[in-house]
Amino acid sequence: MELTFGDVEETALIPLAIKASETARDNARIKDQKAKEIIDTLGVDVSQYDPFLSHEGVVARTIMYRRELQELIKKYPDALCINLGCGFDDKFSQVDNGRISWFDVDLEDQIEKRRKVYSDQERCTMKVGSALDGEWTKKLPKRDMTIVVMEGVLEYFQKEQVKTCLNMLCDSFDHGYLLAELHSPFLEKNGKHHDAVKHTNATFGWGTNSGLEYLELEPRMSLVSETSYNEEMKKYSIRGKIFAVIGKNLNNRLAVFQW
Ligand SMILES: C[S@@+](CC[C@H](N)C(=O)[O-])C[C@H]1O[C@@H](n2cnc3c(N)ncnc32)[C@H](O)[C@@H]1O
Repeated sequence: MELTFGDVEETALIPLAIKASETARDNARIKDQKAKEIIDTLGVDVSQYDPFLSHEGVVARTIMYRRELQELIKKYPDALCINLGCGFDDKFSQVDNGRISWFDVDLEDQIEKRRKVYSDQERCTMKVGSALDGEWTKKLPKRDMTIVVMEGVLEYFQKEQVKTCLNMLCDSFDHGYLLAELHSPFLEKNGKHHDAVKHTNATFGWGTNSGLEYLELEPRMSLVSETSYNEEMKKYSIRGKIFAVIGKNLNNRLAVFQW
């Protein structure tokens, strides 16, 4: 069964459209053939989901998540890796070391759609599960270290839901890292002006000024690092450099937590 336009939730369409258009560029900074294949399959004009700042933000976050994941996987080559709220994202192929066990986890209807374009592989399996309920974690293989990736997911949660998710992760896995995308209180209040998200019905959830605010919700976690996407975006264009100054605290951040 082929994927159709209605299958792709609008907020999931944004990173896909951006990764596909970047992949098609000369000197592409990221290559994501799967995203390109999916967008080509849909055969619709997605240019409204691909404005400059969002484009640069998604490219930056993809590079930053990949770098961080590769470093962690070097340290823990047999880790259990979970892409929680995976959507249509294809991270496994970017970071696979031949040893990790990878699970792409999302809500039931999203996994159903994902199965139209992905198949399970030996160490890369799709699983139905929610970030708000740990039942699905009980059937996973046990590893000394768990690395959880949440990209473009926590931004849509209210504070209580963020707490539920963090508590669930610490209850479910003895030791782990969480790579989380965080956004500002400004975006929480002004999401309707976001250059790509304004074309969707989505609203942003609880925004933070610092990842330290997460620790109040889950004291078992500590904050390892927190880096604004500006740090990557400013490397590539004058507009990226300018935004890093005027939008200093506005851009999303990659925060790494450990427990
Ligand atoms: C904006 S998309 C991001 C997808 C992907 N991580 C990426 O960056 O391309 C948000 C994803 O979060 C998923 N999601 C929303 N609520 C969730 C929950 N409670 N548990 C797991 N996934 C959830 C959605 O189904 C959707 O796939």
